[in-house]
Amino acid sequence: MNIKPIKTILIVLVCLFTSGTLFAQKFEGLAQTPPMGWNSWNTFQTNIDEPLLKGMVDAYISSGMKDAGYTYFVLDDGWMTMERDKDGNLVADPKKFPNGMKEFADYVHAKGMKFGVYNCAGTKTCAGYPGTRGYEYQDARLYASWGVDYLKFDWCSSEGLNAVEAYTTMSKAIKAAGRPMVFSLCEWGQHNPWRWAKPVGQLWRSTGDIGPAFTETVEKNGWRPMSVLNILDRQDSIRQYAGPGHWNDPDMLEVGNGMKYNEDKAHFTLWCMLAAPLMAGNDLRKMSDETRTILTNKDVIALDQDPLGVEAFRYYAFDGIEIWVKPLANNELAVCFLNRSDHPQAVTYNWKEHAISDKFSGTSFDFNQATYKLRDLWTKKDAGTTAKTFSEVIPSDDVVVLRLTKE
Ligand code: GLA
Repeated sequence: MNIKPIKTILIVLVCLFTSGTLFAQKFEGLAQTPPMGWNSWNTFQTNIDEPLLKGMVDAYISSGMKDAGYTYFVLDDGWMTMERDKDGNLVADPKKFPNGMKEFADYVHAKGMKFGVYNCAGTKTCAGYPGTRGYEYQDARLYASWGVDYLKFDWCSSEGLNAVEAYTTMSKAIKAAGRPMVFSLCEWGQHNPWRWAKPVGQLWRSTGDIGPAFTETVEKNGWRPMSVLNILDRQDSIRQYAGPGHWNDPDMLEVGNGMKYNEDKAHFTLWCMLAAPLMAGNDLRKMSDETRTILTNKDVIALDQDPLGVEAFRYYAFDGIEIWVKPLANNELAVCFLNRSDHPQAVTYNWKEHAISDKFSGTSFDFNQATYKLRDLWTKKDAGTTAKTFSEVIPSDDVVVLRLTKE
């Protein structure tokens, strides 16, 4: 018997195994539903420090965010000094964090939350602080020693780097450091992370940065972030790549950051329909009641956190009205009517004329075969059944979202 081919196959398998190519290297079992938390960037950029953030941690609890299911508290760019120390370690800026990062992490943990930090795959972060390139294992060990539970990893100053390799290296470094951390890839969807990042991290940004605008953002300092609708329009085609433990990330929430109430409500609902990570980005200490009501609507959050982990798809679009549907566990369904036109529109919808089926999740709904009860998740009222035509006037840039349960 010629054992040479068998030997070659064995050697190739051993090489693939030891290089981590054959098996996933990330910590498994994390983020089985999309992560929920708060991140400092959208409101504070690099203007963060310990007193401000401790106040935010306290507000996270007193405002009801934690009770609503938010868990992570993530520091974005700007937490460190401009240089590493003589041993090559990152240093928390002593002016901003006089008690050091471990003490701050302990504060977050003592309040029952999980702690996250930010860095970058390149040589510098987007705000010019030291990036991780060449220090992956050292940085991962430092984060583990502080008790970090979540790492957001950006893509600035990454010239010459291969995205798959760079993110894979950091993922392995986290694994080697031995502390489970959610790994959030932030390369803005430039290298189609949905195609390769499932074994690497728990979430990956699918687009450039969001700004607080529903339809169109304005240019600021020569740069223009994306609006809620710009981002929404880039999610439908990648829904098949998301699921428990690996999520598309259409960027953090801008709820409470200057949009109108209905726009915030629609933004939040759509992100929940998309099974998006829910990272609030507003000042939790100064939330209006309206903002709080949106961010803590447990019925809408339940769509996001549904254990089936299937993203919504655009079922219908005509004349500014869209219908997004999200299959849920136990054969339930969420249906979201979005009016993205600039005027109110009356929607009249005969369920019986529209059987819904989703090849990806293998679910189908034929309203001639079964009748479903409708629950409006914003008015919190029953809204009849699918036996009757649904009609409602939806204001501009607003949504109605229904949960359908078999009678
Ligand atoms: C990039 C990211 C943002 C934020 C900033 C920080 O723009 O996409 O989410 O982290 O960097 O500098």
